[in-house]
Amino acid sequence: MTTPPLACLAHTAGRPLPLSGITASTSLPDTYAQLWDEWGPVARVELEPGVNAWLVMGHQELRALVRNERVFSRDARNWADWINGVVKPDSGLGPMMFYRDNVIGADGPKHRRLRRPLDAALAAVDHRQVRRAVERTCRERIEVFRHRGHADLVGEYSQSVALLALAEMSGLNPQEGQDLLAALAKLFGSADDSQEGNQQFEAILAQLIHARRAAPGKDLATALVQHPDLRSHSEILQSLVVLISAGQQTLSAWISRALWLMLTDPRFESRLRGGRLGIDDALDDVLWRDPPMTHFPARYALMDTELGGRRIARGDALILGLAAANADPRIHPAGMEREIGNRSHLGWSAGPHRCPAETPARLIARTAVEQALHGLPGIRLTGTESTAPSPWMRHLASLPVGFTPTTSPTT
Ligand code: HEM
Repeated sequence: MTTPPLACLAHTAGRPLPLSGITASTSLPDTYAQLWDEWGPVARVELEPGVNAWLVMGHQELRALVRNERVFSRDARNWADWINGVVKPDSGLGPMMFYRDNVIGADGPKHRRLRRPLDAALAAVDHRQVRRAVERTCRERIEVFRHRGHADLVGEYSQSVALLALAEMSGLNPQEGQDLLAALAKLFGSADDSQEGNQQFEAILAQLIHARRAAPGKDLATALVQHPDLRSHSEILQSLVVLISAGQQTLSAWISRALWLMLTDPRFESRLRGGRLGIDDALDDVLWRDPPMTHFPARYALMDTELGGRRIARGDALILGLAAANADPRIHPAGMEREIGNRSHLGWSAGPHRCPAETPARLIARTAVEQALHGLPGIRLTGTESTAPSPWMRHLASLPVGFTPTTSPTT
């Protein structure tokens, strides 16, 4: 899709800008600067017609927001627009914003109880095993199109590699991983079988939990089954669902953005040709400039309060402006160019809900980028990449590349 130029956004000055328009703007830094001029570090934005929220753009203000659970709750049942029926049950905001009885929707002691098993399971991941599995998955994907000389590295690579890596880390074998991929394709497809896809997705994971109770393995499912803090089959299942659904799109976005950067940005291109790939630098650069979650929902004010000079009313929704906070001019006195190697960005958020999967996510993403660059000789961008519209993410919808066709593995 084509993204609206800044001029299209500017004509709405005086009333809140739509969040989806901000996400899709051709220059995020310019759009944030415009918002900052008008509002300061906390801006009023429109989530859908008639539903507004605060976009927290200041680095310091965002950290204060996510660290203060006693004032800003993660539980969407505190959202005034939801309580008052302003947001309809079938709103497109539902999947990302409505309350879910899982780690994401919980605060305080309940959150910590549901979070401990995730932290423990992810910390126990065997890095060598994951790396080997991801390498194999990437080679199998590349095998499908290597003879062709061209591919779309989102549709044919990053999306499936991300899901299959998470499936295998969870404990599914490669065939079950493919079944999970097929179920997700139905779930997110536009056809009538999306409910069926959802049921299949949960059924595959429920079966895995039963299998690991009987025969433990070295995987996320086993770690969750054995953790004393999870009290029921449903809590174990929801933990596994959250891990896979929170991880798939973000991982796919990170892999494809880093590949795009390495193919288009001269800083990385020259390293690519010189043999020093700088993949970790590219991954960090993405987390600074175009983090997989551009805007993340949400916190809900439990009382009238103040943030960044704005009066926040009880029940207001506040959106985490992760990309905006990374670009906060107050933390970049020398400009963003100098930030390679510095990991104080907010791509993973902060506070008690900070992403628990940074280490395995980096391992998977690094391996997937490396395998594409090594496995596709002469790789280059051949068309215009496109982005998928969303208020929350700036995912590449496609990444068309060409390369020298090969018939046998080069690695
Ligand atoms: C690949 C890049 C990824 C990025 C940039 C990312 C980013 C984030 C962000 C911004 C949050 C929200 C934190 C908040 O509410 O303050 C989050 C939460 C979460 N992420 Fe990630 N994530 C990534 C990958 C993954 C992966 C691979 C997994 C699973 C294996 C995962 C599992 C989770 C979970 C379970 C939460 C909820 C944590 C909680 O509420 O306590 N993420 N992530």
